[in-house]
Amino acid sequence: MQRLRVCIGNDHGGFLLKQGVSAYLDERGVDVIDVGSHSTEIVRYPHYAAQVCRAVLQGDADRGILICSTGIGMSIVANKFKGIRAALCYSTYQGQMTAAHNDSNVLCLGGRCIGDFEAIDVVRAWLDTNYEGGRHDISLGILE
Ligand code: RB5
Repeated sequence: MQRLRVCIGNDHGGFLLKQGVSAYLDERGVDVIDVGSHSTEIVRYPHYAAQVCRAVLQGDADRGILICSTGIGMSIVANKFKGIRAALCYSTYQGQMTAAHNDSNVLCLGGRCIGDFEAIDVVRAWLDTNYEGGRHDISLGILE
């Protein structure tokens, strides 16, 4: 079976949490495509959001994870890309529900707002839960 490919990107506020999340993904047997940034040096987060979203939209990655200080800026930018469904999650329940109900293809996390263990639980729930489809489909022709 082909390994899941997850593209991960962050800014300075997300760099530390990315270490823990990437290590967990590695252990899980996920192919991690890390687009940076690679330090706590101040950078502009939209560049990383764009790289991750493009990787998902072009089929170079199955899913994306974006981490900034709060996760808010990353989620705002990511949701501007047509075809990206980005969800900012702070709990395991949200990770599970956004996979089941929103079919989210990008998960956003706040590196200064959630601890490593909680974040990894969110990622685990998000990856382990399947989209339920049906009534959760938002392609109703009202978003064009
Ligand atoms: C960077 O200081 C901070 O603004 C950024 O990481 C993010 O939280 C924006 O939403």
